[in-house]
Amino acid sequence: MKVQFVDLVSQYQSLHHEIHEALEEVMSSASFVLGGAVTAFERNFAAYCGTKHCVGVASGADALHLALRALGIGPGDEVITVANTFIATVNAIALAGAEPVLVDAKDPWYTMDPALLEAAVTPKTKAIMPVHLYGQPADMDPILEIAHRHGLKVVEDAAQAHGARYKGRRTGSMGVCGCFSFYPGKNLGSYGEGGAVVTDDEALANALRVYRNCGQSEKYIHPVVGFNSRLHSMQAAVLNVKLPYLDWWNEKRSHFAALYSDGLAGTPDLVLPEVMPGAESVWHLYVVRHPRRDDLMAFLKERDVFCGIHYPVPIHLQTAYAGVRTVPEGVPVTTVEATQLLSLPMHPELTDEQVAYVIESVRAFG
Ligand SMILES: Cc1ncc(COP(=O)(O)O)c(C=O)c1O
Repeated sequence: MKVQFVDLVSQYQSLHHEIHEALEEVMSSASFVLGGAVTAFERNFAAYCGTKHCVGVASGADALHLALRALGIGPGDEVITVANTFIATVNAIALAGAEPVLVDAKDPWYTMDPALLEAAVTPKTKAIMPVHLYGQPADMDPILEIAHRHGLKVVEDAAQAHGARYKGRRTGSMGVCGCFSFYPGKNLGSYGEGGAVVTDDEALANALRVYRNCGQSEKYIHPVVGFNSRLHSMQAAVLNVKLPYLDWWNEKRSHFAALYSDGLAGTPDLVLPEVMPGAESVWHLYVVRHPRRDDLMAFLKERDVFCGIHYPVPIHLQTAYAGVRTVPEGVPVTTVEATQLLSLPMHPELTDEQVAYVIESVRAFG
């Protein structure tokens, strides 16, 4: 039996008619740039996240970068984030001209350890950027409390957590803004690149609309140096079709995660993911740890079970970020965990039989 890591083809086939109709509407109206599909998606996604505004942009990376720019964060400022994340989180800080500072992860959640934040804050710190990693929200209450005490903005990286909740609140709605990616394999994915920033702050939303549109506040009037980073209408049309399915897909992911956790419990040397009390994960990834991770991954591949690693090289060990400040020095939890992380197949198109086969295969690894 073959078990793919993600299966976007099956999902497309199940939505084929709706998707074609939505794309046809964009093409026949020739409303390609910031048209009705984008406005509709921004309204729908803000409502879904429980925020007043949503600004569609060209990617999750741009959502983070433009959010920092629109908040006025730049050279001379520091932004605290984590070492175990996709590189785009940290690139956003560097591209805004600010200095990233990386804190370690909290075992067993893999997200930002709030207990380390005080040691990371300096007079230059302007923002904290927690990442809701693998679909699980970061521990937001202590992060928001420390941010409030030091007068810092909290910019949520929710690229992997569409629809997740922390103590009843949707990811993206807790900080000053939340940044999403619609990269195809995400829980809500477009058919190319896409991203969005959600916020309750009207001034921030307006600033983001200027930054994403070449710094233009009204036709040919440019108060700031901006970017061409508009969410494409064709992508917005796809996202409008897919958004009503998101909760159902997230429930399926939860179901498969529960099957994995039941079936793999007690497997020697295997560390299973845990959900933090008060959190509702949307299981973007189902990440286990094993001391012989590479052998296990190769063994599973031989059995046609395809896995991923998120992420094999943490940010502080990337050449691009040589010398970055880490708290504590060398972020030991992240550094050790990176050698053991393994993401099992996880997507809503899995079947119970496939999950049973993955469980049997992992258990068969000697
Ligand atoms: C945690 C995180 N942040 C940011 C991004 C960047 O999103 P995009 O690929 O849409 O630019 C991703 C996407 O992989 C991500 O996983």
